[in-house]
Amino acid sequence: MPEKVAKKDVRKFWKSLYDSLYEDVDRDMTRERLLDSIDDLEDMFRLRGHMAVADMALSEIGGKLVLEIGSGAGGHSALFAKYGAVIAGADITFDRARATQAKFDLMGDLAAGCQAMQSDAENLPFAENTFDIVYSNGVLHHTPDTKRAIDEALRVLKPGGRAAIMLYCKSSWHYWINMLLCVGLLRGKLFSGVNWLGRATEWGGKNIQSVENPITRCYTAGELRKLFAGYEGLRLRKGDFYFYLIPKLGRLYRRWQIRHYGVHPGGILVYGEPWPIQSPLELWLGRIMGWSWFISARKPVAPGQSYPEDKFQRSRHSGSAQ
Ligand SMILES: C[S@@+](CC[C@H](N)C(=O)[O-])C[C@H]1O[C@@H](n2cnc3c(N)ncnc32)[C@H](O)[C@@H]1O
Repeated sequence: MPEKVAKKDVRKFWKSLYDSLYEDVDRDMTRERLLDSIDDLEDMFRLRGHMAVADMALSEIGGKLVLEIGSGAGGHSALFAKYGAVIAGADITFDRARATQAKFDLMGDLAAGCQAMQSDAENLPFAENTFDIVYSNGVLHHTPDTKRAIDEALRVLKPGGRAAIMLYCKSSWHYWINMLLCVGLLRGKLFSGVNWLGRATEWGGKNIQSVENPITRCYTAGELRKLFAGYEGLRLRKGDFYFYLIPKLGRLYRRWQIRHYGVHPGGILVYGEPWPIQSPLELWLGRIMGWSWFISARKPVAPGQSYPEDKFQRSRHSGSAQ
């Protein structure tokens, strides 16, 4: 069901979080630093089994037309551009689209043909059957009409084209324990009459956050099957479990975690700061009860037509829907 949330409030929140997380990093960015940061980002994604490397065949995306919906500060798009993909980066927040474009500009020839624009996932300014791949990480659960955005992604994909989309997972520790039990019930936010999950998620950055996140949703596997009913070959796997997200106790754990495992510079482009390295236990728990669904599916071809050669990697971590 679409939620009554004004898009201006969505933009306002993501603009404020951009200023808080990335503005200083982007201000000082040089081509050399960006290229190093893209390598670090790829390394971090490999460590985590993130869909950007596990579900996208980076060595095969050269020359492919890729749409990134909600490109944010542009880290993922820059990584795909480095591998020769021709990227359209679309983000509803002007400063984020501009940050993505600035990264393409710094990359110069390495990002030839890539372009970022301010655009709404629910009304994409592209003709149908345009893209080989649609990629979107942690975006479509923050738009009022998620179903419409998923249908838009299908519309602009070429027949046989692939979608790689991350949405939050309801069948997760983070939802049931950290959010629903600790924030929703014990702190009483569940009864606030607004989208309480939005208010409770996406906090971060260097500034004190004063603008509220109007909307966050999360999904069960069954709900995803309905949302992606128009696609074929749906594959779901879970990832991303962090002890440090447990309210109160998590802060203590985070200090220990950083001392014990260290931090990874790959976080700079996507979190504005180094990423605290996860323990092997967290990586394992992520596959069972993680907060992210890594979703992969393709647009059906017309009867009698054959599929383009499937260049997407079968992920080592891929499993069936849970
Ligand atoms: C959590 S951030 C993710 C950014 C990026 N994908 C990443 O993983 O670093 C969510 C992004 O979605 C964008 N967004 C939210 N609603 C959108 C919509 N309806 N259309 C396009 N972008 C949207 C926000 O502006 C923000 O950049």
